[in-house]
Amino acid sequence: MEIAVVGTGYVGLVTGVSLSEIGHHVVCIDLNKDKVEKMRKGISPIYEPGLSELMIKNINAQRLSFTSDHRKGLQQADVIYIAVGTPENADGSAELSFVIEAAENIVACIERDVIVVTKSTVPVGTNDMIKDIIQSQLTSDLKVEVVSNPEFLKEGSAIHDSFHGDRIVIGADSEYAFNVIEKINQPFNVPIFKTDIKSAEMIKYASNAFLATKISFINEISNICELLGANIENVSTGMGLDQRIGSQFLKAGIGYGGSCFPKDTKALIQIAGNVAYEFELLKGVVNVNKKQQGLIIRKLTDCIPDISGKKIAVLGLSFKPNTDDLRESASILVTEELIKQGAEVVAYDPIAMDNAKTVLNSSIQYADSIEEAIENSDAALILTDWDEIKNVDLTVFNKMKNPLVIDGRNCFLVKDMETHGIEYRSIGRPA
Ligand code: UGA
Repeated sequence: MEIAVVGTGYVGLVTGVSLSEIGHHVVCIDLNKDKVEKMRKGISPIYEPGLSELMIKNINAQRLSFTSDHRKGLQQADVIYIAVGTPENADGSAELSFVIEAAENIVACIERDVIVVTKSTVPVGTNDMIKDIIQSQLTSDLKVEVVSNPEFLKEGSAIHDSFHGDRIVIGADSEYAFNVIEKINQPFNVPIFKTDIKSAEMIKYASNAFLATKISFINEISNICELLGANIENVSTGMGLDQRIGSQFLKAGIGYGGSCFPKDTKALIQIAGNVAYEFELLKGVVNVNKKQQGLIIRKLTDCIPDISGKKIAVLGLSFKPNTDDLRESASILVTEELIKQGAEVVAYDPIAMDNAKTVLNSSIQYADSIEEAIENSDAALILTDWDEIKNVDLTVFNKMKNPLVIDGRNCFLVKDMETHGIEYRSIGRPA
């Protein structure tokens, strides 16, 4: 089987590399020539633990290659994965122009019967649309099948998740397509769930929306805990022991970010709206998240009502640890608000500094270490629970003017901060 992957963003690149790692021949296609040149040398355009190593290994084994030439990449393929972006339109719906373009390129370039597999997160009905585009533009008698195969990888642990996922979902409408895609995925040794195409498309959105709901739910419980003097850490642990609830995604914080939950929740509200259904619960989830992202500023101004001219250290900028991704990260909103209120902001992140400099540009200062960021600051805000932050020697906070730490990720024990004489505010725990 010759496999082509269209698009080398996070989903496409991880998909291509993982498929080559289990023995397939894979060519990854991306229009960006510079990016292709770098990837040919094993340089990953994203920070993802373990990815570069697997790229180099499979390039050397001649199972993995990269091209910016669509025709070259597509003409000999038996299976083509579409893994292009589906960004958010202004109304929250998914923008499908890259998917449409990919389908049109496929039909223009293929020279064999192919199975087109959609990895991108696409609204229910999109695979039918892809099928229609291909059938209406096909001038030969080649056979083209379309399969929905959504991805469930998490940034920061994508390689691990590829080989230890909970399930692989395959949505198809022919036994032949099911068999081919099942066989390709068998070496992953992950349970396979076969279903119809529309249900597969919905499984992806419903899963992300459900996880986002869990997060907004626990964040609201944490806010109530604060008012009542209960401790969210104990509440989450106690709830998670119920196997029907499960312990994952019950960590209260400053809301979910990233390229998926914010976009997919809004898209699902739109998808429902398109068939005249108001998804009230999910609208609540989105609103709660927006409010929660601003919580840390409210906690800060409770302690320092006027932050104008104050030096505020921001520790952690990526939307979660082990990634350099800042998309929809609370750090964007928080730094914007700090600047708006006249604060001087100095930020530090173990990995995301380069990306931060392009997203947050010169509006803030950047430090090379936690120590440098907090030196003489009036307050430190923790936005991402990186190990480097969680394991910091607490005496470092003595370098602040008056040690005040506002922790959006509950990185430290309240009693440890007390012992070190640090004024400490966290999420859903008694101060
Ligand atoms: C998410 C899903 O977890 C993946 O299954 C899915 O494949 C992916 O989206 C996608 O659609 O591509 P990801 O966005 O990489 O993965 O990150 P998560 O680990 O899910 O975290 C998302 C956000 O939720 C982060 O900001 C994180 O800090 C926050 N979060 C997560 C919490 O606030 N509390 C939790 O308990 C868990």
